[in-house]
Amino acid sequence: MTNPLRDKFIILGVTGSIAAYKAVEVASKLTQSGALVDVILTEAACKFVSPLTFQSVTGRKASTEADLWGGEGHVVHVSLGHRADLVLVAPISANTLAKLAMGIADNLLSVTVLASSAPLIIAPAMDVDMYNQPITQQNVETLRKRGAIIVGPESGHLASGLVGPGRFSEPIDIVNQARYILSRGGKLAGHKVVITAGGTSEPIDPVRVITNRSSGKQGYALAQASLDLGGDVTLITTTNSLPEPAGATLIHVNTAHEMLEAVLKHSTDADLLIMAAAVADFRPFRTASEKIKKEAGVPTITLEKTEDILAEVARKREQFGFPRRVIGFAAESESLVENARRKIKQKRLDMIAANDISTSDSGFEVDTNRVTLLFPDGTLQELGLQSKFETARLILEKASSWFEQG
Ligand code: CTP
Repeated sequence: MTNPLRDKFIILGVTGSIAAYKAVEVASKLTQSGALVDVILTEAACKFVSPLTFQSVTGRKASTEADLWGGEGHVVHVSLGHRADLVLVAPISANTLAKLAMGIADNLLSVTVLASSAPLIIAPAMDVDMYNQPITQQNVETLRKRGAIIVGPESGHLASGLVGPGRFSEPIDIVNQARYILSRGGKLAGHKVVITAGGTSEPIDPVRVITNRSSGKQGYALAQASLDLGGDVTLITTTNSLPEPAGATLIHVNTAHEMLEAVLKHSTDADLLIMAAAVADFRPFRTASEKIKKEAGVPTITLEKTEDILAEVARKREQFGFPRRVIGFAAESESLVENARRKIKQKRLDMIAANDISTSDSGFEVDTNRVTLLFPDGTLQELGLQSKFETARLILEKASSWFEQG
């Protein structure tokens, strides 16, 4: 399976908010991900953006008020509502929010939402004063309590010139939330997956660190691939510069020691640990409390070894049985298979993803990798040149089969 949006029927309700034009991007991104998007515009939405615009990006009919009373008559809302895997109302205006909270069904969109038992995501967008009204807040809470997922609104500059909450969330964040909701119930459902990402940094003084070139991209791709299979994902990360995978619990760390503590804490009940982070092997023996000044001459920095996180994990696992499965990474510039074979034994892993960093299209910072998977029985599988997401998907496909077998 490529992603949880593929071939899913999604109703995208668009209401009368200035952000209605941004819903076109939501429709487009969902369609590009393989979803079948049926757009329903309220009358007010049609004043901001035309049904034809949505039809052009989805390749499917966009329905308006006329369809409620048109040729197919009363069945439109029932058939759309029943077929839907997900209902998304983005943007949702204060008016439609109030209608849905009260169960009012007086137009094609509200009647369709009422006729559907699919999960509901709403993305409010309105002026700050309307959003802050106690009645609007109450309506949001009513819908949240009833199980709706609320995305946003963001704070920022609004069309009215005011600043505050009310901005429509980024289309990509809304799409990612839809992806998350539709992934629940996958092969990793009910399984906790802990993933580390990025490179640790070890402080020399308050301004300088020893770090490495890991971007965290492979770790984030692994988190997304695990989420796509329905896993409960904890992502222990050193980076702030990548988009957060929707649905993951993020733990931010900097040093190898912080990462060790976070990994041990969160993997006590984990089914799977994937150590994709590039952990420093050495750190300054002492961290200067003040900035080292150049007038004092060239400093000598004495290093000491950091803890080997996977070695600590192996010890705990022997004692307590968790994490149930462990995958390591090996970034190698030479003797890839030999080094990876040694590490899989030393670190007592269920799989190691050996990464060839000797070429420019694989390894740190780039979007692709050349990974060979090795297993304790000596077998190996070459994944070849792949995007980091495809590499992640293939790794998780293998790992999820372990849990299917029990
Ligand atoms: N790793 C770890 N703790 C460390 C260093 C590495 O848990 N202090 C993990 C990495 O996250 C990776 C695996 O061990 O999953 C292999 O990391 P790598 O750097 O390739 O191997 P090292 O054991 O550090 O050996 P070397 O750097 O000498 O190749």
